[in-house]
Amino acid sequence: MANILLVENNKELENLYNLNFRVYLGLDPVSTSGLDSAVDQILKENQKIKLIVTKAEIEGQQIAQTLHEKMKNENLKIPLLVIGKIGEELESDSSTLSMSVGVDLKTLIRNCAQVANITAAEMVGLDVPNYFPIPSHYLRKIKSPICRTFFLDPDSSSEEEYQTLFSPGDEITEEKLKNYISMGVQEVFIQKNDRLKLVNQISNEMISELSFDKLNDNERTVAGEVQVNTVHDKFREMGITKETVNAAKKAMRDIAKDVKKNKTLKSMLKNLLSNKASYLYKHIQVLSYVSLHLIKHADWAKKEHEEKLMFTCFFHDILLKTDEQAKICTKDEFDKADLTYEAKETLKHHALRASELARVFPKSPAGVDLLIRQHHGALNGVGFPDNFSPNLSPLSLNFMVAEAYTDKVIEAGDGKIHKQLIFSYLNRRFPTNRFKKIIDALDKIIL
Ligand SMILES: [Fe+2]
Ligand SMILES: [Fe+2]
Repeated sequence: MANILLVENNKELENLYNLNFRVYLGLDPVSTSGLDSAVDQILKENQKIKLIVTKAEIEGQQIAQTLHEKMKNENLKIPLLVIGKIGEELESDSSTLSMSVGVDLKTLIRNCAQVANITAAEMVGLDVPNYFPIPSHYLRKIKSPICRTFFLDPDSSSEEEYQTLFSPGDEITEEKLKNYISMGVQEVFIQKNDRLKLVNQISNEMISELSFDKLNDNERTVAGEVQVNTVHDKFREMGITKETVNAAKKAMRDIAKDVKKNKTLKSMLKNLLSNKASYLYKHIQVLSYVSLHLIKHADWAKKEHEEKLMFTCFFHDILLKTDEQAKICTKDEFDKADLTYEAKETLKHHALRASELARVFPKSPAGVDLLIRQHHGALNGVGFPDNFSPNLSPLSLNFMVAEAYTDKVIEAGDGKIHKQLIFSYLNRRFPTNRFKKIIDALDKIIL
């Protein structure tokens, strides 16, 4: 197997990338975290290295540029994929490619293949053994495997040397895993056709668990979206468990930090758009920003309302599977939606069902279930009424206006946000007096 040399000082990312290199490209990863060891590897092992993937810069050192110069001096031409910004000289080099976010794994693999001249046919036709090995420690990242996993039993007297380790539904505990590792199980095996499924499952978990503080703005957006999707999927599958609750708490913390970092709505949107964030992710981020803004301008609001709103932004549409469903907010949109009967039923009841989940969520902010239930203006959490009950809570009214505004902002995309149009829409949709103050407060938002 040829090697791929990775230069990355974030251990979590290193593990994540290496797993994917191994499985998608069929390359054996060798990693280093700094310049000297990278140069060493290149000088000694250049025959074996098919591709170098490196950060542009680590702790102020221009790694990519220096490696490029070293190779030039040594007359070596190893393809180079750089994560981060590169200068003109590297830009013009045909065996170099750059990208901004490594955590975007699909693009990472595609770029690796492109710069190293690995064709799609070669990737599909990799000479993969029937039982594909990955290091056992990766199983720590998941609670239960999506497919059967095996270990190689050297003492096996039966014909089948591959014995089942964990099956779907089995719980992978640290204790069980330690036991196996102490028995000498360093590698787990997956059947050939299952390998991408399992690697994607592990990768999504690894991305969700990343320490977001160590990531840059672009990386946080890409990783944040994976994290939100992974948590939402888990809730639909498992409901409230220790695992889903912890994962949701981490996701909410990361979103809150991100939202507060942005000084303007435009800067937030710019980042979301340039990283091609999904509708759902944009919806949660922008809605959180707008809701927090509104609460600042409401004279009755207290600190606890902020927590309640952040929870609701993350949780309110958690049971919706598609962006198409999540975009629907009015009765008219609901009636016209081209969805299956099942999808419509889910949509009709999603506010009620999500509020039931929020109620049993351990230590959820008090009253958050009420807010989630009322987020489309129905007291009982069912359907999309045109006329709103006088009994809706003030916080619910704020949330509804924030959501309508958010959707208009997202619709504008990278075009101009036409304030006048948005406000006349809001006034039409929420014509009564009790909404007026809220809509007025939106006018003060820092675009
Ligand atoms: Fe929503
Ligand atoms: Fe909703």
